[in-house]
Amino acid sequence: MDIYRSGLLRFTPQGQALYDEDGLLAVARTPDGRACVQASGNWAQLAPQFAGLPVQHFPGRLIAPGFVDLHIHYPQTDVIGAPADGLLPWLENYTFPHEQRFVDRDYSTQVAEFFIAELLRNGVTTALAFATSHPASVDALMAAAQKARMRLVTGKVLQDRNSPDGVRDATEQSLLDTEALIQRWHGVDRLGYAITPRFAPTSSEAQLRGAGELAARYPDVWVQSHVAENLDEVRWVRELFPRARSYLSVYDDFGLLRERAVYAHCIYLDAEDRVLMRARGAAAAVSPTSNLFLGSGFFDYRSAQEAGFAYGLASDVGAGTSFSPFRTMLAAYTVGREGQSKRGLSLSPTDLWWQHTGGAAAAMGLGGVVGNLLPGCEADFVLLNPEATPLLARKTRAARNLDELLFAMIVLGDDRVVEQTIISQAK
Ligand code: GUN
Ligand code: ZN
Repeated sequence: MDIYRSGLLRFTPQGQALYDEDGLLAVARTPDGRACVQASGNWAQLAPQFAGLPVQHFPGRLIAPGFVDLHIHYPQTDVIGAPADGLLPWLENYTFPHEQRFVDRDYSTQVAEFFIAELLRNGVTTALAFATSHPASVDALMAAAQKARMRLVTGKVLQDRNSPDGVRDATEQSLLDTEALIQRWHGVDRLGYAITPRFAPTSSEAQLRGAGELAARYPDVWVQSHVAENLDEVRWVRELFPRARSYLSVYDDFGLLRERAVYAHCIYLDAEDRVLMRARGAAAAVSPTSNLFLGSGFFDYRSAQEAGFAYGLASDVGAGTSFSPFRTMLAAYTVGREGQSKRGLSLSPTDLWWQHTGGAAAAMGLGGVVGNLLPGCEADFVLLNPEATPLLARKTRAARNLDELLFAMIVLGDDRVVEQTIISQAK
């Protein structure tokens, strides 16, 4: 048993913040070999149960759930900051050429190891990540995450058309490769597989149909893709799939909207699409730094809340500009406030934090497993220093309540706030 004493942030299963200025977190090994939260809450109330055990005491620090990144591309680690006239030129001129390099296993391994270290350095303990179309790129990332004992879900990108040589795959082989990778990796240690059609324009109908068949055959495997990110992309999908009711419904027509299906962006959805997201139990990965960087548009939080579909936050590196959940939460606040293209609102700091922890976990079907520190959750957490920079220290010392403390960290924080990332290990 490991006992930690520090400020402690957790959430109810519905996403209400629970905060103890002087908190206790007890981590134990469960009989099935996982490291889970045994108890969490107020120090004075819980400490007598653990009398005599050594305590790791972190005065002035905050223990919080590890962050969950709902959508990120590991092969785009080195694509961050590539300027382009919007999504489609960015893909053509920077992203596709770069992703060709992942045909090389050693290169994939080197980037994968950097990527996992960078996630952990930023406090991200669970990620739903794209690999590339090369099966070896999946092996490389799975192996790196396994070594770090991290909970990570990834998959081979499916893209058999409208893609250049070097990243384009072959329809039948792509589906065989996907199934082989599911069998090799899904459910091994803390790893999961995601069936990963890049987006509708780069998959043939046969490939989408095959992906949907696999999604039906392996219901606890994830599905991930992109939808309705950019107006040129939406127009292109309309040309390619003239009979579909909407861009989103292309995926539904092929059986790719279901629970554990996570769609990045979801900006240009209409009311019927939002009802469909909710009805199918699919989730949106809101990617604000990416949407601001590429000038894609603004996620409509108010309409999403009214429709009641699940969503959570994502970096979407490399269109996204930062691995840091603090940068993503701040950008989400900015996107929420934008009130010209849709109705604006002020997202609360605890809501932003939930969207990047327990809310993101729940959106990918891992509610109560990660992204929270209630008893029974896997014990992945961060130790944050609210006084990591001089300006942040001034703000957090003056904070009168949890909202002010969290908002100061969201607005002024970054990787400097993350003092330790702890993936509790079963021994
Ligand atoms: N749509 C299809 N592929 C991509 C990608 O790699 N990044 C983003 N942001 N959108 C996409
Ligand atoms: Zn993406």
